[in-house]
Amino acid sequence: MATKKKMKIGIVGCGAIGSSLAKRIVSDFGAQAELAGLNDADMDKAYALAESCGSSGIPVFNLKDLIKKSDLIIEATHMSASFDIAKKTVTAGKHIIIMSVGGILQRYRQLRRMAREKGARIFIPSGAIAGIDGLKAASCGKIKRVTLVTTKPKKAFAAVEHLTKKNIHLDKIRSDTVIFEGSASSAVKAFPQNVNVSAVLSLAGIGPQETRVRIIASAKAARNIHQVEIESDSGRIVCRTENLVHPDNPKTSYLAVLSAVAMLKQVLDPVKIGT
Ligand SMILES: NC(=O)c1ccc[n+]([C@@H]2O[C@H](COP(=O)([O-])OP(=O)(O)OC[C@H]3O[C@@H](n4cnc5c(N)ncnc54)[C@H](O)[C@@H]3O)[C@@H](O)[C@H]2O)c1
Repeated sequence: MATKKKMKIGIVGCGAIGSSLAKRIVSDFGAQAELAGLNDADMDKAYALAESCGSSGIPVFNLKDLIKKSDLIIEATHMSASFDIAKKTVTAGKHIIIMSVGGILQRYRQLRRMAREKGARIFIPSGAIAGIDGLKAASCGKIKRVTLVTTKPKKAFAAVEHLTKKNIHLDKIRSDTVIFEGSASSAVKAFPQNVNVSAVLSLAGIGPQETRVRIIASAKAARNIHQVEIESDSGRIVCRTENLVHPDNPKTSYLAVLSAVAMLKQVLDPVKIGT
């Protein structure tokens, strides 16, 4: 019987998500995949991660060489860089998992066209929310409304410029307070820290103009809570996620990291469960 070649995986961005994934590839996916190399804007971080991944000597490359050496790139950098990394990857005919989804939202169609032309695939994990499976299924019928209600501890909104412009003072908030209501498109501009969740939801459903977002600053909440509400001709879906943060990066939900691991599992496994 022919043995299938291992998938070579390159990681761009060696922070909380990239580091967790690199370690998982080495510890859990060794039978189907190998870590082809690492890259980070801060090369010291890439070398430190390479060392902590074990004795096998994981190489560190510049982006161009890493793409060349890999079958699949995992992007875990920043929304300002994700489109460029994705463009370079798919135009080289290589596959990519994108974590900084906000960075591709406005040029998603362009990226999809380039991937299609080159036979590359783009994978976007659900990230910090649940309900994407149901939304994708409901989208094959008729969607009436998609709403995301995000509730975070009020300190999560410190230094958000939009609040200063709207004369909203976090120190005066004593109970749950709606600080934004509008389209996902406007939410992404006003609250860049909420960008990935809104972007994934928009791409899976009815787009950034039609997807509604309500943001609540809470004096009591200890977790980042995302509630997705979908009204469609197949019924109503309500999905609530109460996220704990990643121990290495308080801005990143631990579920988002696990969602990337689950996506990788799906890419490598012959069986695909869930829509
Ligand atoms: N999809 C989701 O639901 C979701 C959830 C959480 C985080 N994210 C996003 O995933 C990304 C990674 O998150 P994280 O928690 O690991 O962040 P992090 O800050 O811990 O790590 C990011 C790493 O990327 C590196 N980097 C930045 N720009 C780069 C570039 N141009 N080229 C190479 N490396 C670069 C940084 O030096 C850093 O090491 C972020 O954009 C974050 O917003 C997505």
